[in-house]
Amino acid sequence: MTEVDLAVVGGTVVTGRGAERGDVLIRGEQIAAVAAPGERHDAARVIDATGKLVLPGGVDVHTHFLVGFMSCRSVYDFFSGGVAALRGGTTTVVDFALQRRGRSLTDGLKHRRMQADARVAVDYGLHIVVTDVNEATLAEIPAVMREGVTSFKTYMTYEKDGLMLDDGALLALLRVAGREGALVGVHAENEKIIAYETARCLAKGEVAPRFHALTRPPIAEAEAVRRAISLAEAAGAGIYIFHLALGREVPNIRAARRRGLPVFAETCPHYLTLDDSRYERADGTLYVMSPPLRTAEDQKLLWAGLEDGTLAAVGSDDASFSAEAKTASSGSFATTVNGVYGAEFRLPLIYTFGVETGRLTLPQLVRIWSEGPAQLFGLAPRKGTIAPGSDADLVVIDPERRTRLTAQSHYGPVGYNIYPDVDLSGMPVCTVRRGAVAVEEGRYLGTAGDGRFIKRGKPDLASGIGVGAAP
Ligand code: URP
Ligand code: ZN
Repeated sequence: MTEVDLAVVGGTVVTGRGAERGDVLIRGEQIAAVAAPGERHDAARVIDATGKLVLPGGVDVHTHFLVGFMSCRSVYDFFSGGVAALRGGTTTVVDFALQRRGRSLTDGLKHRRMQADARVAVDYGLHIVVTDVNEATLAEIPAVMREGVTSFKTYMTYEKDGLMLDDGALLALLRVAGREGALVGVHAENEKIIAYETARCLAKGEVAPRFHALTRPPIAEAEAVRRAISLAEAAGAGIYIFHLALGREVPNIRAARRRGLPVFAETCPHYLTLDDSRYERADGTLYVMSPPLRTAEDQKLLWAGLEDGTLAAVGSDDASFSAEAKTASSGSFATTVNGVYGAEFRLPLIYTFGVETGRLTLPQLVRIWSEGPAQLFGLAPRKGTIAPGSDADLVVIDPERRTRLTAQSHYGPVGYNIYPDVDLSGMPVCTVRRGAVAVEEGRYLGTAGDGRFIKRGKPDLASGIGVGAAP
């Protein structure tokens, strides 16, 4: 008889390869085995998952905890954001360390780890946001990779916020990343188009939320995505498009993949479930994010990209600015802080709108929820799957249970709800982080600092899923 510390029994265990009844047996922090139903084992603690789905804990490679942006501060720090993520079934996040201009990558990394390590509730890794490319920065890349930071983030916009990299700098970064095997991610929007359109609207006093979308037209996103792919190809590097909103660009990404290029992209729950009609509402300012919400047709193309594996992941882009912060600028889109919350509700949104509608199978869900991003960002096989030897990170959901979100549903005082009219399935019953029950029925059972920094390996640029990945 197998002796284990924890057994999650009677559920349907879902991985990227299939879904079948089984018992997940956990010893210490790792999965010891996945046993056939009815096999005998001696467990110190048993979780009965009969009638439920047992998924790998989520891997969210796009969170912005403890962040300041456009004069606002996020509600969530590494503790509260981590708890919110765990309540939503995510057990690993990859957040960002910022290189300040004139400072080193290492300074940015040290500073961020100092902010996070003692408080973080969820296991976490970091991308470094590169804002200052020079010989010293480029020379540091192998050293930060040895520290487990194997991906970098760049902004093709947000010039006045001090974040934008110009094309020369991006190309130089891509060349070194290509040589070292790191992955460069981009926020792909054309700064000059946005700046021109914004100035034009402001001159006419056009400040309502719908002008946020109009000043960031599809071409601003499409051009930047294509430029990023061209620069990466020229440099011989992999590229990851963060938060793709423009479904119309999915065919280009698919085509690049089919040419054998390591071109990857994620989208986010809000782009999959909300469209640009939200900007016409009285509370349209709550939906100000960049890129902006697009059309219903774009949503269809994004879902198709997830279904055939062209899109590698659904990241939350959690930017938890409160309702007060988002409405502080009296409705002017130009000064409304960009970004929406998301880490806590990533799973129910993809489950409800993806699996329940028949767009995605359960294994497809797991690929974009945990396995795909873990593999791509150097976290596999430790994270993202249910297999012997992997960390025992699990989420149990009851497919029969429905939850209606309100402004009060969040773990923290975010104070607004952008999904008002839907009943969601797939809110976790419990979340297991490295073998310990971290959240049960929404209650966090751990303490601050229970999360761990995860040193990531090199990105698996050959990783790819489904048709979209086939070179
Ligand atoms: O509007 C967004 N996406 N805000 C968060 C920061 C970023 O652009 O990723
Ligand atoms: Zn962004």
